[in-house]
Amino acid sequence: MRAITIPEPGGPDALVWAEVPDPEPAPGEVLIDVRASAVNRADLLQRQGHYPPPKGASAYPGLECAGVVAALGAGVTDWEVGAPVCALLAGGGYAEQVAVPAGQVLPVPDGVDPVDAAALPEVACTVWSNVVRQAGLTHGETVLVHGGGSGIGTFAIQLGAALGATVVVTARAAKHARLRDLGAAHTIDYTDRDFVEETRRVTDGRGADVILDIVGAAYLGRNVSALATGGRLVVIGMQGGRKGELDLAALLAKQGSVAATALRSRPVEQKAMIVRGVRDQVWPLVESGAIRPVVHERLPMERAADAHRLVETGDHLGKVVLVRG
Ligand SMILES: NC(=O)c1ccc[n+]([C@@H]2O[C@H](COP(=O)([O-])OP(=O)(O)OC[C@H]3O[C@@H](n4cnc5c(N)ncnc54)[C@H](OP(=O)(O)O)[C@@H]3O)[C@@H](O)[C@H]2O)c1
Repeated sequence: MRAITIPEPGGPDALVWAEVPDPEPAPGEVLIDVRASAVNRADLLQRQGHYPPPKGASAYPGLECAGVVAALGAGVTDWEVGAPVCALLAGGGYAEQVAVPAGQVLPVPDGVDPVDAAALPEVACTVWSNVVRQAGLTHGETVLVHGGGSGIGTFAIQLGAALGATVVVTARAAKHARLRDLGAAHTIDYTDRDFVEETRRVTDGRGADVILDIVGAAYLGRNVSALATGGRLVVIGMQGGRKGELDLAALLAKQGSVAATALRSRPVEQKAMIVRGVRDQVWPLVESGAIRPVVHERLPMERAADAHRLVETGDHLGKVVLVRG
């Protein structure tokens, strides 16, 4: 088969479409004929040599895909060859085929385009596991989503709104109108507004019950300031650095909590549990139309370098999808 390989880490041109050995499904795995994959920010770090694949994972980039089941490994009984599926991957999505543990495979939700389905697994699993399972966001609460225009952000807005929460987002102003269309009640231009003040202003001084953060160290103190009493901060990205100072007095005065999670390095059993939760709780919202994949652009898979260049600008809104020719 062919796949996007990274012979040497570097800029976007480090991505090379090349002939590679065909993958074989191990016991418990499903082999997928990939129709599309999608770009995640982590792929950019992997390309630069900063985010090596976990042990046992494919060396090729790509944390999600959509396609059809091509073959079943020994012991797999819950999928059929030819079924349209999408999957959460530890790597290997930028390829013509990928083998994945059966527990990480999902049906393409009814009503979703089979190519756009590639834009769902990573964001659905990350957002649901952090905002719902970890932070326990409920109806009537307020969630502050940093990076509302990211793949993660566009999904978090829709999920938060579908759950009956008030969604506040930070993003550059050019993206605000689209983010309000997706369900954001309040948009904050983080380049010229203090998100702590703005979050307090739109919550009558209470603050956010849940914060989904992709910035990390640079926002740690201000995120705690923006929390409501009993608030839960979940950090999933470190775009603003990894080492920050936490004011424990401020956190305990609020009965607050801080968590940090990474999906890719979780054990297979945990990923399967998250995928089951997404199938049970999120897929019905997708099938009802309350949540849609937000696809900024589709590009041919062999042009992954151009897709990475686009995501590096930050000008995209939602996901960039890589389609097989
Ligand atoms: N821990 C996990 O399991 C996990 C899983 C998936 C993703 N992630 C993380 O989640 C983040 C989003 O991933 P993605 O693939 O969806 O990214 P993406 O589509 O590339 O979007 C990143 C966005 O971050 C925004 N941004 C940058 N600095 C910001 C700031 N100071 N305040 C608010 N927004 C800011 C930019 O939006 P503007 O144009 O508005 O500036 C940019 O579009 C990444 O950090 C990624 O590593 C973590």
